Amino acid sequence: MPKIDVAFIFLSVVCLMIGLVLGIGMGASHNFQLAPVHAHLNLLGWASLALFGLIYRAYPALTRSWLAKLHLWLSGVAALAFPAGIYVSITYEKPMLAILMSLVALAGVITFFLNLIRVFFFVPEASATESPARSLA
Ligand code: HEM
Repeated sequence: MPKIDVAFIFLSVVCLMIGLVLGIGMGASHNFQLAPVHAHLNLLGWASLALFGLIYRAYPALTRSWLAKLHLWLSGVAALAFPAGIYVSITYEKPMLAILMSLVALAGVITFFLNLIRVFFFVPEASATESPARSLA
């Protein structure tokens, strides 16, 4: 299993590649029906996952909990399956996957939030000794 920060960054670029291909396809075909799929792949996938990866890199104490792995699974699955659900919803008018995956995305962010509270309120020495500037160097 790669490190959490690396896994987040790799997944984010996978989402970006799919999102860009879809964006180029929409532009070429002049059919913008799937713009929300493209937007969520790029923002929930590329932007959010990459930011999570950089935050784990900046604060390594966050990686030292099962919460980090759970967060990777929830947010990683949602980043791909939520846009897929939006596609199914737009194309077949069946919104159930999108609804379920939006809740998985929310669960991922709540897990991240709990991990932030754990580190910054209950492991103060971890955030004090590992400054972002030092760990990025
Ligand atoms: C090769 C690069 C890209 C191409 C060719 C592309 C293409 C497009 C196209 C054709 C649309 C639909 C415009 C319309 O509905 O009139 C769109 C919408 C959008 N794109 Fe991109 N895009 C690219 C990269 C990105 C990136 C990197 C992001 C975000 C990080 C992004 C975020 C969005 C958003 C938020 C929308 C609006 C979606 C909506 O209205 O539902 N795009 N893009």
